[in-house]
Amino acid sequence: MKLVIGCDHGALTLKNEIKKVLADFPNIETVDMGTHTTDSVDYPAIAKAVCDEVAAGRAERGILLCGTGIGISIAANKIRGIRAALCHDVYSAKMARQHNDANILALGGRVLGPGPAGEIVRAFLTSDFEGGRHARRVDMIMQLENER
Ligand code: RB5
Repeated sequence: MKLVIGCDHGALTLKNEIKKVLADFPNIETVDMGTHTTDSVDYPAIAKAVCDEVAAGRAERGILLCGTGIGISIAANKIRGIRAALCHDVYSAKMARQHNDANILALGGRVLGPGPAGEIVRAFLTSDFEGGRHARRVDMIMQLENER
């Protein structure tokens, strides 16, 4: 599986910790879309860089991080085809995959420590979409992109 990851300056430290967790998954090829320094950057640009890869099918999943995870998840969910879930606990990360078929996990670098964040990432990567009634609801979500 190809996974793209990106962060703003508020989450560089946590992103680097998450990359260590990703290295435990031999079937995952991780591509880091930046940022690579603590210089201030605008999180919508990072969201676009990562989500464009997922929306175009060049990557299957993405992980986005900013200080809170809020701004970057809002930006991600503006992009057609993206279902970004901001998760700060393992249960939400599991449900985001099982019920919502989330293709992007968002995390807050100033909210979470590396231990909990790593467990959240593991849950996101090892949980599968259940389909069934959830597929109908996810389809309804995606139909909203065609309104207005
Ligand atoms: C940057 O200071 C901060 O606003 C950003 O990382 C994020 O928390 C926005 O939602």
